[in-house]
Amino acid sequence: MGHYAVNLEQPAGSRQPSSRVLAITSGKGGVGKTNIAANLALCLASSRKRVLLLDADISLGNLDLVMNIRSRYNISHVIDGQKRIEDIIQTGPEGLRIICGASGLDRLADIDEHEQHRLLRHLAVLQDDTDIILIDTAAGISGSVVSFCLAADHVLVVTTPDPTAMTDAYGMIKVLVRKQYEGPISVVVNMARDTADGKSTYQRLADVTKRFLQTDLYYAGMLFKDEHLCTAVRARKPVVLAYPRSQISSAFAALAARVGGIECSKPAQGSFFRRVVGWFR
Ligand SMILES: Nc1ncnc2c1ncn2[C@@H]1O[C@H](COP(=O)(O)OP(=O)(O)O)[C@@H](O)[C@H]1O
Ligand SMILES: [Mg+2]
Repeated sequence: MGHYAVNLEQPAGSRQPSSRVLAITSGKGGVGKTNIAANLALCLASSRKRVLLLDADISLGNLDLVMNIRSRYNISHVIDGQKRIEDIIQTGPEGLRIICGASGLDRLADIDEHEQHRLLRHLAVLQDDTDIILIDTAAGISGSVVSFCLAADHVLVVTTPDPTAMTDAYGMIKVLVRKQYEGPISVVVNMARDTADGKSTYQRLADVTKRFLQTDLYYAGMLFKDEHLCTAVRARKPVVLAYPRSQISSAFAALAARVGGIECSKPAQGSFFRRVVGWFR
């Protein structure tokens, strides 16, 4: 357990947070995670859900590109004591709240016990005020990406029909299963050429996962390759706002409804932020 004396268990008698946490991840980069995170978040926010979007990918040209959000401050500034959590939350369309640089949460594991408790208390208040937390993770199976997924209630793995994207998606699923992730893992196929392409991509991934990892994958849906999305990205607007009547915007609405409907048989206990820090140790 390392040398940390911090008790990350939920104190007796405290209320369970009601928000659910969805991590959006992939093996390979450039498969559409950020666009999916941003547009799903907006669809959920427009159906009166209180949504918090955590940008946990520090690479440039991430959420800033899709949402036109630029932040000078992130979780690291909170950990360093320069900013308060309220100061780094940005408000997007539909009242969506966004925190950039959430990958910096891994540093919480290294600060002193007192500070850690103080920050986790603030983050727990934030979670209490939220119905769903979406995390846009970085690509790949690095420790911090896996930690965010393991702490989530539900993991959405994004792949395209491209064989390397599928192989890398399987690599991520394998790590989660090996680490005994307990929540549902669902797959969204992005940039499908047609319905058959999308379905067969999911099916092949589900078949190998069942055969070699004895695990069922949920099907979250598919998104076609759509020029509207590229045009929207160039205009730095999420496609559901730029082209609300496009086919891909309807597909995002359907995806949001579907993802909201996949129940976690055993929702994770306690504050999500405590769980993340627990996995980082
Ligand atoms: N459904 C789609 N149709 C067309 N282009 C897409 C689609 N999804 C993603 N893209 C393209 O792929 C690029 C990368 O997407 P992004 O969401 O940034 O991926 P990731 O976060 O996984 O790296 C986008 O800027 C866009 O040009
Ligand atoms: Mg991204």
